Amino acid sequence: MNIKTLHLLAVVLSFLYFSEAFTPQDNYLIACGSNVNITVDNRRFLGDSARPGSSYLSAGKSISVVNPNRSSSSSVLYNTARVFTSASSYAFSIKKFGTHLVRLHFFPFTSMDYNLNTANFSVSANGVFLLSNFAVQNNIIKEYMLMVDKVELEISFMPMGKSGFAFVSAIEVFSAPSDLIADFGAKLMGTNGIEEFKNLPSQILETVQRINVGGSKLTPFNDTLWRTWVPDEEFLVLKSAAKIASTTHTPKYQKGGASREVAPDNVYMTAQQMNRDNSSGFSIFNITWDFPVGVGGARHFVRLHFCDIVSLSLNQLYFNVFINGFFAYKDLDLSTATFHLLASPYYIDFVVDSDDSGIVRISVGPSDLSTTLRKNAILNGVEIMKILNFGSPQTWSRKRSHWVLAGSIIAGFAALCLAIVLFCFVVKCGKKRAKLKPAVSTGTGWTPLRVYGGSTHSRLSEGTVFASPGSNGYLGLKIPFADLQLATNNFDKNLIIGSGGFGMVYKGVLRDNTKIALKRGVPGSRQGLPEFQTEIAILSKIRHRHLVSLVGFCEEQSEMILVYEYVEKGPLKNHLYGSGLPPLSWSQRLEICIGSARGLHYLHTGSAQGIIHRDIKSTNILLDENYVAKVADFGLSRSGPCLDETHVSTGVKGSFGYLDPEYFRRQQLTDKSDVYSFGVVLIEVLCARPAVDPLLAREQVNLAEWAMQWQKKGLLEKIIDPYLVGKVKPSSLKKYGDTAEKCLAEYGVDRPSIGDVLWNLEHALQLQETGTQGEPQEDGHITPPELPVSSTNTRIEEENGAGTSGSRTSQVFSQLMTSEAAPLISKHYPLYSLGNALDLNPAAAAARE
Ligand SMILES: *[C@@H]1O[C@H](CO)[C@@H](O)[C@H](O)[C@H]1NC(C)=O
Ligand SMILES: *[C@@H]1O[C@H](CO)[C@@H](O)[C@H](O)[C@H]1NC(C)=O
Ligand SMILES: *[C@@H]1O[C@H](CO)[C@@H](O)[C@H](O)[C@H]1NC(C)=O
Ligand SMILES: *[C@@H]1O[C@H](CO)[C@@H](O)[C@H](O)[C@H]1NC(C)=O
Ligand SMILES: *[C@@H]1O[C@H](CO)[C@@H](O)[C@H](O)[C@H]1NC(C)=O
Ligand SMILES: *[C@@H]1O[C@H](CO)[C@@H](O)[C@H](O)[C@H]1NC(C)=O
Repeated sequence: MNIKTLHLLAVVLSFLYFSEAFTPQDNYLIACGSNVNITVDNRRFLGDSARPGSSYLSAGKSISVVNPNRSSSSSVLYNTARVFTSASSYAFSIKKFGTHLVRLHFFPFTSMDYNLNTANFSVSANGVFLLSNFAVQNNIIKEYMLMVDKVELEISFMPMGKSGFAFVSAIEVFSAPSDLIADFGAKLMGTNGIEEFKNLPSQILETVQRINVGGSKLTPFNDTLWRTWVPDEEFLVLKSAAKIASTTHTPKYQKGGASREVAPDNVYMTAQQMNRDNSSGFSIFNITWDFPVGVGGARHFVRLHFCDIVSLSLNQLYFNVFINGFFAYKDLDLSTATFHLLASPYYIDFVVDSDDSGIVRISVGPSDLSTTLRKNAILNGVEIMKILNFGSPQTWSRKRSHWVLAGSIIAGFAALCLAIVLFCFVVKCGKKRAKLKPAVSTGTGWTPLRVYGGSTHSRLSEGTVFASPGSNGYLGLKIPFADLQLATNNFDKNLIIGSGGFGMVYKGVLRDNTKIALKRGVPGSRQGLPEFQTEIAILSKIRHRHLVSLVGFCEEQSEMILVYEYVEKGPLKNHLYGSGLPPLSWSQRLEICIGSARGLHYLHTGSAQGIIHRDIKSTNILLDENYVAKVADFGLSRSGPCLDETHVSTGVKGSFGYLDPEYFRRQQLTDKSDVYSFGVVLIEVLCARPAVDPLLAREQVNLAEWAMQWQKKGLLEKIIDPYLVGKVKPSSLKKYGDTAEKCLAEYGVDRPSIGDVLWNLEHALQLQETGTQGEPQEDGHITPPELPVSSTNTRIEEENGAGTSGSRTSQVFSQLMTSEAAPLISKHYPLYSLGNALDLNPAAAAARE
């Protein structure tokens, strides 16, 4: 089977996967009071009067009533009802523990004996009240999501007050897809900012609003879980602020985002966006909706659905989300959140305490990050559910509280026992580890001891307890959540230095004064725990002077946090343009490119599996206090899905700016894709302008394409950074331009390896610093000897030596150099063949001495 067939197979399989309808394991549909089975929207409701004994009805007195005035306008499901004159229940046996959907249909009518509008009753599910003193005026369907962890779900009806009876028209009980209500990811918006809301699945949720924003009403027939979605228009505070957006393409569901069960296609295929009919693209305003949720104040679960159907290409849309006037999500970047795929469904969960106003107000508006040309904000869907357990105390909870108390005493005792056992274990382990220490430090490769060793990330903090390393060893990098809270002033918003697909990035200082950058998995990101652990396993093994290294991680209380070394001077991009920082000299720029190429070379060749970075760009190259380049953000995108093939369009390529054009043809990223992106960075460094600038004339928008036109004419110097004019030696510029051109070759096979690029950049630096202007180099005869990657390297100290900055390295070198090219090259080339030797981390190296 060749690659193409495999690819086709994968496409077919994924299609099958997505088109398969959800089939709940538990699925009970009851037509109450009916003696026939009724099929509605392809679902068969069993008549509970059809065969006594198989109707799920248990204790109590009930009678079936028939609507004497059968109207053709309402569903046949509502021609009958069941009336309960004493407390009665339905019992359903449960095969799958977990969240279940329960829908109770109430359709009041007047029969000979009962006026169902006068009923007054309560309903409970396994003893928990869903409805109290409930009276039905109009047709209504009440929907709940609740956790069932018993073999039976009993739904009870209790007549209250004077009426003396209860009734129900139809009942649905079915198991929800397991990812519908996740155990992590909801953000609680409280008085002290946003924190994680835990244990969402164990809450009982009652649906209050379900809105298909920008779309039409969706009936159970249109929905994967037989839900009803209503249009948003009547909830818009200012209708003219919003404009409907819609697409005919089906959304691109992917792992890590929303699934078709979370919301159906139609929700994601329509949205409201900012109405620009009467305003320029620059004006900033919010679109606001007020959703009634009932007075009295309660805690609500709010799920917002997004799918970027308005952008023409990636990274155009950045917007803010407000709930009840507070920031709920700042600078939401759907492109990143959906792993660089447009029109891919995504959702974010919030928990909000609503006030007495009886409304939940949701606003979306453009973020400061968006480009002035295309400021926009969107919303595709809203679900608001009341969290019932937070309501007023109910009888069941008082009854249960004894058990809770008893339970907690037992639990407390158990925890104490466990603590004692653990303590003994830790003491023992500690002794064992102390004995192991010398053996480990003479070993090679990565060991958890490096956090104690001579590296810059010495001891994390006093009292940091390291778990015993697992088979992967990386568990030794665990950092307690409390330490990270302390390091970031409890995730102070002012310490946010960026955001990415994984979540917010904070700056922080550990107790030992180690500066860190910390990526906290947003509740919304939902990157799975296994992936997270794989990332740590990979990242913890990578250590190189020109790669940003992992200091540790935290995986507590459903937090997923990665902690990196803090790189003082930030992204290279900021030093090139747009932020008013002093310009870098040509030599500095070359040093930075050389450093980055080294980091990349190590990724490609230094580890067994060969890591493709996949996202080389000037914002992913960071500079430390000595302007030493460090490549960041590798690894995290490894397990993410790739761009969808439907994105094969020059539009995406043009705007993406850094993406390997061949990738579109072969659907496969290779290390040569990184080389292409690196070529774009080289041009960016030379010209000091963004890879894509939509504000420029059309032929100039894509930097790489534009620069190559000039390069091919031999006039690259015409478009370089004005600051560099007259400061770059022509031979150095020529070498550099040729190198960039090779990187940007249309086909991967024509591009050099990053090792070759590195050598050529070294050469360009020599040409600049030594003033060698001789032509011999230019005909390309002094190509580097083909160096085996594993060749012995005499310059490891240079690479690993602490305190030797990249620029200093070169200065030292250039002083040693003569103006003859050949010896220089022989002195220089070992620098790029870092080989396996650099697998060693500084701590291990230090330990060996
Ligand atoms: C309704 O469906 C149930 C279950 O399939 C079946 O046992 C019963 O006979 C059906 N009743 C009628 C009236 O068709
Ligand atoms: C029957 O229903 C229709 C509309 O649903 C209503 O107008 C009419 O008054 C009803 N008749 C009786 C006898 O309740
Ligand atoms: C239902 O009956 C209770 C008394 O048991 C009463 O307090 C309540 O107001 C009644 N509810 C309605 C809607 O009539
Ligand atoms: C929803 O289902 C109805 C049939 O009940 C169909 O007529 C309608 O076109 C569907 N709407 C959408 C948006 O698919
Ligand atoms: C645009 O402005 C005109 C005139 O001020 C107004 O009549 C129209 O309703 C506005 N349209 C929108 C969509 O706000
Ligand atoms: C958008 O709404 C938020 C919250 O109410 C408010 O703080 C912000 O100022 C609004 N922005 C604009 C441009 O009106």
